[in-house]
Amino acid sequence: MTTLNVIILTAAFLLLSILLLHLFNTIVNLIAIIKGAPFVPSRDSVISSMIEELGLGSGINVVDIGSGDGRVVIALAKAGYNAHGIEINPYLVIKSRLKVMLQRRKNARIHWGDMWAYNLSSYDCIVLYGIGRIMDDLEKKLMNECRSGTLVLSNFFKFPNLEQIKQVERLRVFKV
Ligand SMILES: C[S@@+](CC[C@H](N)C(=O)[O-])C[C@H]1O[C@@H](n2cnc3c(N)ncnc32)[C@H](O)[C@@H]1O
Repeated sequence: MTTLNVIILTAAFLLLSILLLHLFNTIVNLIAIIKGAPFVPSRDSVISSMIEELGLGSGINVVDIGSGDGRVVIALAKAGYNAHGIEINPYLVIKSRLKVMLQRRKNARIHWGDMWAYNLSSYDCIVLYGIGRIMDDLEKKLMNECRSGTLVLSNFFKFPNLEQIKQVERLRVFKV
């Protein structure tokens, strides 16, 4: 095989790998959109409000359902909470796990999976940045699984029936 052939084969292999990764990424994003919401990260100001509103003291179990790149989970862990994230997109799971590992956040954990199949009963607080069309079903899930008094912090979207106890700009605070 000539050097030129090797170069052409390597280039073709790289191109195919990139195309396959791109295709897989598109499929994974579509699944996230169908099963919940697309990845749109929360702004720093919303994350700061979440932490201020929580004010629950350390050792509290909090979960971000649809944790994206892990920014909320890591901020919550930094604030002293036992912070978990559940995320369906494997790329975002890898990215957020890497961030957790590099920052050595022992109280932060990212689970790969579907939030609809993930039991929320062990958490004192649920945080989320969803989308309008899932809020009805999500409310039913929270009512079925969460203890009475569980705090729910939602970036922007409201629930049809849950009692909203506060709003700080985009952040809405609810109680189950
Ligand atoms: C709007 S983003 C919010 C990301 C992060 N919570 C934040 O506030 O920066 C929604 C995330 O939910 C994820 N997602 C969508 N459907 C999901 C499902 N059924 N289970 C777990 N994660 C899901 C998406 O992949 C996306 O990362």
